[in-house]
Amino acid sequence: MEAIKRPAPAKINLALDILGLRPDGYHEMRMVMQTVSLCDTVTLAEGEKGFSLDTDGDFLPAGGKTLEQRAVEAFFQELGRPCPPLAVSLKKQIPAYAGLGGGSADVAALLRLLRERYAPELPTEDLERIGLTVGSDMPFCVRGGTALAEGRGEVLSDLPPLPPCWILLCKPDFDIPTAELFARVRGRVFQNRPDIDGMMGALEAGSLEGVAKRLYNVFEEVLPEEMRQEVQGIKTVMLRCGAMGAAMSGSGPAVFGIFRTGEEAAPALESLRKWYVRSFAAQPVSWLDNL
Ligand code: C5P
Repeated sequence: MEAIKRPAPAKINLALDILGLRPDGYHEMRMVMQTVSLCDTVTLAEGEKGFSLDTDGDFLPAGGKTLEQRAVEAFFQELGRPCPPLAVSLKKQIPAYAGLGGGSADVAALLRLLRERYAPELPTEDLERIGLTVGSDMPFCVRGGTALAEGRGEVLSDLPPLPPCWILLCKPDFDIPTAELFARVRGRVFQNRPDIDGMMGALEAGSLEGVAKRLYNVFEEVLPEEMRQEVQGIKTVMLRCGAMGAAMSGSGPAVFGIFRTGEEAAPALESLRKWYVRSFAAQPVSWLDNL
C-alpha cells in the first residue's frame, strides 16, 4: 500500500473550567476548545510485522504500548478485523507536554488515516468514541474546529468558528504532568472562573474582542509558584506587545495570545523567541475535513 499522510493540528483551550471531581476519579470539565494551524505530520504505511512507530521527536514513553498502538488496536477491534502490520511515523512540530494536545493530535490524525484506508464509511462520532479509549481530549482532536467540551472533555457541542486572528504559542522549558496538576486541584475553591457563557455569546456574535477578553484557565491558579510566575511573565510580554488576551492552554505550560493580524503579532513573537525557542505563530483551523 502506498503511504498516506495527514497534518495533525494542535489545540488550545480558549477557556478551561473544572467543576468538580467525579465518582470515576476524573474531573468534570467545561472548556472552549480551538484547533490551531501548528501541525505535526502523521504518515501511515504498510509495516513488515506488527506495529512500528517512528518519530523525529524525543517524547516516546519507554516500555508499554504507545497511544498510537492502543488507538490502532481499538480501531480494528471496532471493525472486528485483525490489525494488519502497520508503520506509523510522526514529524513533530507541536511541543510535547505543553497543553497543546500534541500527542492526542497525532493519534487523532492516525485515526482519520485508518478510516480513510480501511473504513471510509465510519462516522466521525465512532472515531471520537474510539479515541476516547486513549485519552479525554481525543474526541475533540478528532472533530476539530471550535467546540464546547464538557464531561471528561468528551461531550462536545460545536460552536461558531473563532473569527480570523493570529495566535502566538509559547512553551516554557518546564513541564507538569497533567495528572499531577489535577491532583493540585483537589479540594480547591478557585478564586476566579472563566465566563464561558459570555465567551460562547461572543463567538455567536462573531466578536474577537469578546472572546479575547474572556480567555481564562483555572489551572493557572494551581501551578507551583515559580511556574506560575513564568507563565504570567509570558502573558505579560504578549499583552504588552499588543495581544488582545492571553492564557495558558490546557494543563500547560504553553501560553497563547490572540492578535488581530500577523503584523500585530510579529513584535511579540520576536520578543518571545529571544527567550523561548518554542514560540510559534498560528491561526485558527475551523474545518478538519479540508486538511
Ligand atoms: O484522559 P487522559 O488520559 O488524558 O487523562 C490524564 C489524567 O488526567 C487522568 O489520569 C486524570 O488523572 C486526569 N484527568 C482528570 N479529569 C479529566 C481528564 C483528565 O482528572 N477530565
